[in-house]
Amino acid sequence: MNIVLMGLPGAGKGTQADKIVEKYEIPHISTGDMFRAAIKNQTALGLEAKSFMDQGALVPDEVTIGIVRERLSQADCEKGFLLDGFPRTVPQAEALDATLADMGKSVEHVINIQVEQEELIKRLTGRRICKECGTAYHLVFNPPQEEGKCDKDGGELYQRADDNPETVSNRLEVNMKQTQPLLDFYGDKGVLTNIDGQQHITKVFADIDALLTNHRK
Ligand code: AP5
Repeated sequence: MNIVLMGLPGAGKGTQADKIVEKYEIPHISTGDMFRAAIKNQTALGLEAKSFMDQGALVPDEVTIGIVRERLSQADCEKGFLLDGFPRTVPQAEALDATLADMGKSVEHVINIQVEQEELIKRLTGRRICKECGTAYHLVFNPPQEEGKCDKDGGELYQRADDNPETVSNRLEVNMKQTQPLLDFYGDKGVLTNIDGQQHITKVFADIDALLTNHRK
């Protein structure tokens, strides 16, 4: 199963990705997570990515394409993969197609999680993340059992640097511009499915699961 998960910032890609990879046992490849890990480890990639991410801008295509290409060549991607947050531009989508074609593969499902802008702003500004395992919570929509602590491992919850209101509005603007051409790209290939992301987290997953279960039959 070669899957691409799309959706504007805050649509619930990370939340759904956790559930998909657990059930379908494929690796979760999130470019955002890869950049945040590089920033934490203070690598050259991290230093470069940080300057773009802090402004809510996209990291340049050539950098992003390079790290995904390298990741897809690893052995655990042989059975399939879930790409989260990549591709985000048409050149990235074209590069992905070329990379997969070289490996005798193609994108089989593009799942686009749709959520209204007003809701996205509420979700991003109220999001809190576990320092230890990266699980996302929301102060109102998906609170942890104990305030400030992860349900899974008790890790401290923090707010992502790019979840402040100013950066959030720039991220949404930048991503909205890139999204439609990408949806057209995958719509023309017949692999795109839109999912209503304004439903409860479990219902969003049920819709995605129904699509993927059908694929297996
Ligand atoms: P990235 O890490 O990919 O962030 P994003 O796309 O902005 O998406 P988020 O992770 O913010 O949101 P999400 O959709 O995963 O939502 P979540 O599940 O957490 O990218 C960050 C940056 O890296 C980019 O700005 C860019 O600079 C760079 N970058 C990354 N990829 C790149 C690329 N390909 N090219 C160039 N640059 C790139 O949910 C959000 C909140 O809502 C949570 O609190 C959650 O609990 C809650 N929630 C989720 N679902 C529901 C629901 N159904 N109902 C109510 N609440 C919900």
